[in-house]
Amino acid sequence: MNNESSRHEGESLLIIGAGPGGYKAAAHAAKHGLKVTIMEEGHVGGTCLNVGCIPTKTYVHSATFEDARERMAQVVPQLRQGVEGILSHPNITLVRGKATFVDDHTVRVGDNTFTADHIIIATGSDSKLIPVPGIDSPNVVDSTGLLNLDSLPQRLCIIGAGVIGMEFASVFHRFGAEVTVIEFLKECLPALDSDIAKRLRKQMEKEGITFNLQCGVKSISPVPSPVGETCLVQYENKKGQIESIEADVVLVATGRKPRTEGLNLEAAGIALAPNGTIPVDEHFQVVNCKSSNGTCYAIGDVNGKQMLAHAAEMQGIHVVNRILGHENGIRFDVMPAAIFTSPEAACVGPSEDQLKEQGTPYECHKSFYRANGKALAMNESEGMVKLCTEPGEGRILSAHIFGAHAADLVQEVTAYITLGATLRQLRDTVHIHPTLSEVLIEVN
Ligand code: NAI
Repeated sequence: MNNESSRHEGESLLIIGAGPGGYKAAAHAAKHGLKVTIMEEGHVGGTCLNVGCIPTKTYVHSATFEDARERMAQVVPQLRQGVEGILSHPNITLVRGKATFVDDHTVRVGDNTFTADHIIIATGSDSKLIPVPGIDSPNVVDSTGLLNLDSLPQRLCIIGAGVIGMEFASVFHRFGAEVTVIEFLKECLPALDSDIAKRLRKQMEKEGITFNLQCGVKSISPVPSPVGETCLVQYENKKGQIESIEADVVLVATGRKPRTEGLNLEAAGIALAPNGTIPVDEHFQVVNCKSSNGTCYAIGDVNGKQMLAHAAEMQGIHVVNRILGHENGIRFDVMPAAIFTSPEAACVGPSEDQLKEQGTPYECHKSFYRANGKALAMNESEGMVKLCTEPGEGRILSAHIFGAHAADLVQEVTAYITLGATLRQLRDTVHIHPTLSEVLIEVN
C-alpha cells in the first residue's frame, strides 16, 4: 500500500447497489484500506450478471433455447458466488435490503442506519416501457421476462431495434423463432455508425429476420387462441397506414431508465434531471447535492452517461481513486461498445456521421473480412472494418466493425486510440498470421 492509500485508510465508503459499478468499486476501495458498506436489495452482480450481459451471452453461445436455459442456470449462480467471494473481503460489509436516504450522510436499510464519509449511488436502471394501450397485456415482456420464458415462442415481435432488440432478434432467430422487429427510426442501432448498422441489418434480413423500420407501435391487444393468448401488435408504417402482426410473445426493448425509486433522494438534497438521471460532474460527483463537502457520487446507468457495464466499472474505479487521492488516466471519451448479434458489431470513438456533423477533418480506411485468410477458414467472410483517422493516415479517431469477433478487434484499436497512435503505428505493429486481427492492417 502506498502513502496515499494509508492517508485515507479507515475512511468509510457506503455504496448503494452491488452491480458491476458497485461491487468493483467496493473491491478497489477495500484493497486500498477504505471501510466499505455495500447495500443490495436483489442478487449481487446487478442487471449485467443476473439478467443482462452474462445471461444473454450464455444464450449467444448455446445451440438451442433449452441448452441456453440450462447453461444460464449454472453460469449465473456460479458468477454470483464469485462476486459474493469478492465482497467477503474483511474491509467490506454486505448489507442486504433496500437502501433509503435519511440525509446526505446517512442511509437506512430496514431498522438500521449507516453513515459514511463518502457515498456512491450505483443503483442501475430498469426497462422503459412505451405508453401504448395494451403494454401490460400477458405475453408482453421486457428482456428479463424474455430470459425467463419456459419455452421458445414460435413468433416473437420485438419493439425497438436498439442493442437489446438486435441481440435478442439474432439469438431467438437462431433458436428457430420467427422474428419481426418494429423500429421507430430509419435504421437500427441509432448509436452505431450508420454504414455498419445498415450492413448488419441487411445481413440479419438475409438470414430471415423481418425489419419494419420507420414504424410506430400504436397498440397491443391480446388475442384468444387454442393454445393460450397471443398478441396483435398494431403499428403505423412510414406511409401512415396501420398494419398489424400477430405474435406469441412481444419483447419491448425501447430503452432503459435510471433506477431511483424509493431511494428518497430528496432527503440528501439530490434533484433528478428532467430525463430521470442523477446529474453528475466529470468526476461523477452529484452536482446538485446539498452537501457542501462533496461526498456523494453516482456511477453507472443511474447517471445516464454511458449505459454500459464496463463504463460503470471504470467510473467506480475513478471515484474510488479520487477518494483515495490517486491519479488515473482513464479515458472516458474512448469508450468501446459491442453488440453481440451474429455477426457481432462493435465500435469505439465517433461514428463517421458524427465526424461529418462536427466538421472534424478525417479520412476513412476500410477492409473486408472476405480478403482475410482466417475469416475464410472460419467460414466468417461477412464483415467489414472502418477506421477513421486524421488526414494523412494520422492519429486513429475511431473504429467501426461488423463481423466475427468485432468486439475483440475493436478492443485492440481502443488501445491504439487511448495511446494516441497513428494508422502508421498500427500498420507497423506485427500481427500474427493467420488471425482476424490482420484485417486491421489490411485497411486501404
Ligand atoms: P436503445 O436505446 O439502445 O434502443 C431503443 C430503440 O427503441 C431505439 O432504436 C428507439 O428508436 C426504439 N424505440 C423507442 N420507442 C419506440 C417505439 N414506440 N416504437 C418502435 N421503436 C421504438 O435501448 P435498449 O436496446 O433497450 O438498451 C438499453 C440500454 O442498455 C442501452 O443504453 C444499451 O447500450 C444498453 N445495453 C448494452 C448492451 C451491450 O453493450 N452489448 C446490451 C444490452 C443493453
